Amino acid sequence: MGPENLGRDVPTTDTDLMPKALITGITGQDGSYLAEFLLGRGYDVVGMLRRSSTVNFERIDHIQDEITLAQGDLLDGASMIQVLRDHEPDEVYNLAAQSFVQTSFGQAVLTGETTGLGVTRLLDAIRMVKPDIRFYQASSSEMFGKVNQVPQDEDTPFHPRSPYGVAKVYGHWITVNYRESYDMHASSGILFNHESPRRGLEFVTRKITDGAARIKLGLADELRLGNLDAQRDWGFAGDYVKAMWQMVQQDEPGDFVICMGETHSVREFCKLAFGMLDLDWEQYVTVDPQFYRPAEVDLLIGDRSKAEKVLGWTPETSFEELVRMMVEADVKRLQS
Ligand code: NAP
Ligand code: GDD
Repeated sequence: MGPENLGRDVPTTDTDLMPKALITGITGQDGSYLAEFLLGRGYDVVGMLRRSSTVNFERIDHIQDEITLAQGDLLDGASMIQVLRDHEPDEVYNLAAQSFVQTSFGQAVLTGETTGLGVTRLLDAIRMVKPDIRFYQASSSEMFGKVNQVPQDEDTPFHPRSPYGVAKVYGHWITVNYRESYDMHASSGILFNHESPRRGLEFVTRKITDGAARIKLGLADELRLGNLDAQRDWGFAGDYVKAMWQMVQQDEPGDFVICMGETHSVREFCKLAFGMLDLDWEQYVTVDPQFYRPAEVDLLIGDRSKAEKVLGWTPETSFEELVRMMVEADVKRLQS
């Protein structure tokens, strides 16, 4: 399929013919954007979520009436078999994970069970219930870790630097293995960092935009961060979910790097975000060793040539637009 063709024909009128997608991790940042995107293309969207003692629908509140929710957990294979039997989706997007790198050092086994083995549980469930399901695995640039090559592409060797990265390497290779072993339509999207106003507050970009907004509004007087020299290839999550869908529409499954192709340090991010609020970041940001990691990923920058050529995917939101969007959203939220 060429770049001009964005996918299989998606019927939008007859509800019986509407393709059905199951999204794991529906309550997460990407789950909410992907659900919006698929609804916009006429999909019947089922979101899998795990049981929790409090409702956690902040990101999907506005689309709750348009989607179906089903309870399942990556730690429990039978629960996913049941969800697949009940809903018989055409496509499954596995976005669920223990996704915070710092936590993975303290909860390495849980991260391995969820982010790594959870992928096998889900692939096995698909194999048992409906093997013709098209599958997307949320792989990560964190797999490149201590990078062997700059920029990183689909052929760059992996050298993960955290239990999270190790678990994602496992999830990636089991996806490739099930594709090769069982002829499953299973694709792996190697996505570089992508952010948004819906990003979790513990990730550095959102921590900075939220912190800067609090300082501007007089709600805080400092922001404590870790390694300011780390460099990341940051894009907008809303742009990246389209690439997930495009991968699943290809005749042949595959692996694709999705990125901006530019890198910025945490320091630069601070300067830009605080600057947008007319604040000098150096007066407020303090380095706190508690936010340093046992092993760091120093530099990530991707090469998206394959995605551009095969999928026709390019990002629509610039780095500066992304930072502005996040800063403005945090100011607005804290003012209301
Ligand atoms: P996120 O906001 O942390 O969302 C993770 C989702 O996984 C949440 O809905 C969470 O549910 C769910 N989850 C966690 N453990 C689960 C379990 N045992 N069973 C079922 N669901 C579980 O992550 P994100 O930023 O949207 O990222 C989506 C995926 O892409 C993740 O796999 C992440 O590792 C990967 N990824 C992200 C980036 C990025 O920059 N954002 C880059 C590359 C890859 P709760 O709400 O109940 O916690
Ligand atoms: N979270 C955090 N908090 N990170 C900080 C801080 C801080 O106070 N100070 C500096 N950093 C640095 C981290 O050391 C890291 O080098 C960088 O900021 C980015 O950290 P995160 O925003 O936590 O993201 P990440 O790159 O570790 O992981 C994210 O991107 C991966 C893709 O490369 C997550 O979304 C992963 O799930 C994703 O796979």
